Order: sequence, then C-alpha cells, then structure tokens
Amino acid sequence: MEEKPILIQGAIDIELDYLINIIKEREEVEIGTYKYYKGLIDGYPVVVSKTKIGQTNAGAATSIAILKYSPLLIINQGTAGGHGRIIHKGDIVIGKDYINLTAFRINRREEGSGSDLSGWKMRAFYTDKQHHIYNVADERLLKITRELKDEYKNGTIYEGRIASGEIWNRESDRIMYIYNTYKTLCEEMETGAVYTIAKNFNIPVIGIRVITNNEVLKEIYDNECAKKLATDCQMFVEKVVKKSIKNINEFKV
Ligand code: 5AD
Repeated sequence: MEEKPILIQGAIDIELDYLINIIKEREEVEIGTYKYYKGLIDGYPVVVSKTKIGQTNAGAATSIAILKYSPLLIINQGTAGGHGRIIHKGDIVIGKDYINLTAFRINRREEGSGSDLSGWKMRAFYTDKQHHIYNVADERLLKITRELKDEYKNGTIYEGRIASGEIWNRESDRIMYIYNTYKTLCEEMETGAVYTIAKNFNIPVIGIRVITNNEVLKEIYDNECAKKLATDCQMFVEKVVKKSIKNINEFKV
C-alpha cells in the first residue's frame, strides 16, 4: 500500500513557490479552485496545498486534502504579524496552540448606547471543554522543530500561541492588549481552521509562521521583504519535512 503523504500548506504564492519547486515527480491537481501539488521529497510522498487566505478557505482546503489524500501529518506554514515587543521580522513562531482572534461574545448594550470594544470578550463557541479556547500542535512535531532550532540562521525560533482570525491588526494598543491577555506571539488567518480540522480527524498538525511585520516595533510589512522571509520560512519547513520523513515510523503508531 502507498505511504500516507505529508500535507504542507500555504495560503499565497510567496509562501509556496520554494516548496513546490523542490517536489520531485510533481503533478498538479485542481479541485474547485484549490490547488494541490503531489510528488516526492526525499522519496517520500508529499502534497503541497495552496489553501488561499482565511479560515473558510483553509478549512475547505484541509478537509478536501484529508478526504482525497489521507495525510499522515499536516504542516501549515506561512507569514504572520508579531505580537509584543520581543518578536521581530524574520523570527519564526512555532504554534504550540492557537486562540481564535475573531470569535466574540459581546456584552449587551441597548440601542443608542453605542459600541464599546472592551465589552467584546474573545472566546470560541465551538471547541470542547477540555480545549476551551486552544487546540494544540503534535508533540512529536514540536520536538522535531525544537531539534532544528539552531539551523535557522535568519532569526530566532519561538514556540507559543498563535492568534488566528479574519483580521489584520494595525492598532499597537490592541495588539499589546491581546498579547498581554492571551499570551499570543503572532497573528495570521489560517491556523485556527487547520488545527481544528486536524484535531477532529485526529491527524498530527503543526503551524510554522515567519514574522513579516510587527506594528508595535514599527517593523512594517513590505512586499519584497515578505517574499524573502516567506522563502526562508519554507527552507526551514523543508528541514522539518525531511526530519519528519526520517522519523516517519514515530507517526505510524
Ligand atoms: N495579520 C494577519 N494576517 C497576516 N498574514 C501575514 N501577516 C499578517 C498579519 N499581521 C497572513 C495571513 C493571510 C495573509 C493575508 O497573510 O495568514 O494568509
């Protein structure tokens, strides 16, 4: 029987170009408008998936890939915005878990009393009790990324919480509030859907994000720089994929 592939995801072209190019015996498959690039890395089957931006797209692309390819592992990767004052452009965040950045329960206010963002309580409505807000990355994949930390030369690798939602924050005070309250390291738009679906299908998952802006530190997003950083991130992900392949039996239990 053919081996179950490793599914590697990115939302946009700059997050995928490098990985697509290193696939041997590459074959492109399009389902609806979701693209999958099937082939081999170090002789092991992989599927690189372009999820497109946002939770809905990432959720659909992940579910389709699970039904069509039965992946053994899922690696979601790409760009993100840094939270707090420690994490700089070029650093990488490994998502130990995530918090939904755009799920709110809003305090009651009567008509005419306006809107007050401080009454917007962040919470997820649909996770189970045990994982009230967070879903978590696979411990074996976390260990593999930890062991590769020193091989990333373009910044520091942190492990922690990703804030995921349909939002691009540019208010420094809001970012610091989220950072201080929920201990988030970065924000992006896909991890939430991917971790949730991976958990529901019991598939090991990890999120790897390179920081391409930090509003608080005035490190702004720049297209050319983001392209370079997204490639650096993919080169690190390549190492994670190859080390996972070397240790593939650990995931077959
Ligand atoms: N905030 C939100 N999403 C971001 N992304 C990169 N930086 C940020 C940020 N600061 C990613 C998202 C999405 C695309 C727009 O870029 O995950 O895929």
